[in-house]
Amino acid sequence: MAGYVVVGAQWGDEGKGKIVDVLSQKADCIVRFQGGNNAGHTVVAGGQKNVLHLLPSGVLNPKAKCIIGPGVVVDPFVLLEEMDTLTSKGVSVDHIYISDRAHLLMPYHVQLDCLQETRDDARKIGTTKRGIGPCYADKYTRIGLRVCDLEDWDVFCEKLSHALEMKNEMITRVYGGDPIDRDELIARMKPVRDRLLPMIVESVTMVNEALDQDQTVIFEGAQAAMLDINYGTYPYVTSSSPTAAGVCTGAGVAPQKLKHIIGVVKAYSTRVGEGPFVTELLDATGELIRERGSEYGATTGRPRRCGWLDMNVVHHAAMINGLTDLVVTKLDILSGLPEVKICTGYEIDGKVYDYIPSSVEKVAKAKPVYEVLPGWEEDISGMTRYEELPENCKTYLRRMEELAGVRISMVSVGPDRVNNIYLH
Ligand code: GTP
Repeated sequence: MAGYVVVGAQWGDEGKGKIVDVLSQKADCIVRFQGGNNAGHTVVAGGQKNVLHLLPSGVLNPKAKCIIGPGVVVDPFVLLEEMDTLTSKGVSVDHIYISDRAHLLMPYHVQLDCLQETRDDARKIGTTKRGIGPCYADKYTRIGLRVCDLEDWDVFCEKLSHALEMKNEMITRVYGGDPIDRDELIARMKPVRDRLLPMIVESVTMVNEALDQDQTVIFEGAQAAMLDINYGTYPYVTSSSPTAAGVCTGAGVAPQKLKHIIGVVKAYSTRVGEGPFVTELLDATGELIRERGSEYGATTGRPRRCGWLDMNVVHHAAMINGLTDLVVTKLDILSGLPEVKICTGYEIDGKVYDYIPSSVEKVAKAKPVYEVLPGWEEDISGMTRYEELPENCKTYLRRMEELAGVRISMVSVGPDRVNNIYLH
């Protein structure tokens, strides 16, 4: 039984897409278990760049089943557009399946997300405005539409009409927006439904059987530990659980079936959107990292905030996920810096914390406690063996391992599938 979980150990954008793509070459099944098209995985293969939002990054392997799991919220319009883009590039999409339990993200969710984020008095979260939060909110207030509802068109239309009535009231009365026309939406959904029907499966049995048959199943996380709805810097978080525990609830898999839990860590920190960021660099070094690392959102194009590696964060991720391995990405970006810093704790009102305090106001006051290590000059992007790495670079990696209490099994030194150094 080989269940591999790949999750972000920081704030997302760690390069999970590339890592899943690498692992997917030998996978039988790749499953997304949370989030929606707020993810932006970039996969570079053979010089061709593909940005995936809703589809699992393993989609480039036509032999593996790609499953959009029960815990995902699916914008069907975006899904079909993404599939069409891949088809136009000659990538097969015949191996994509959607769980009948996944929730449907409708245009009113997108509209509400935009209205909530742009209201003058809004306490902005910095969402991607893709409707993810409002869709999960409907799921938990039990007025969500699920993929299985599409199977009976009359049932679907009736449920949609009911939900839309409530949402339109909110859109118009609370936010002063324009209501969504029921008949128009239903007319738009009809061809979408016809295309989705053949892809709908009962994925829980499918995935569990694959695991029981010793197949290689990869569970692909989007976002990351610090954006977890329970354990991130609330309220500046996403609406789901992008952790190993999220696999259990979002894919219907028992914890003991998850053997390898891989945390992807970028060699420095980035964050998109609002919320505290203790090691943020608002200086020339931050700017250098942003430019060199092309730290601009794959989904929104927003510049990412950049800073030093925060091991309080990585340790927190290791703990809540039960990480068995770390994969370090973008180490090549740090080449040429005279020194590199690692944050080992937060100083708040004279006290040093070696964990993440729950209160966002408290974290906002934190000053980073740094260990300063010497940098390295060498361009490491062409290196393929650990022994080749400069000594200072190895020291940086070893310190990361010590502080996380988790071994590093792979280091990524470039965007392509082949730019990797394997340690275990
Ligand atoms: P989210 O699910 O939104 O968090 O996405 P992600 O974790 O898959 O990250 P994303 O693909 O947005 O960002 C990673 C970017 O860095 C992509 O453009 C990758 O091609 C690139 N990349 C990944 N690994 C490396 C690396 O080791 N070195 C360099 N230079 N680029 C890398």
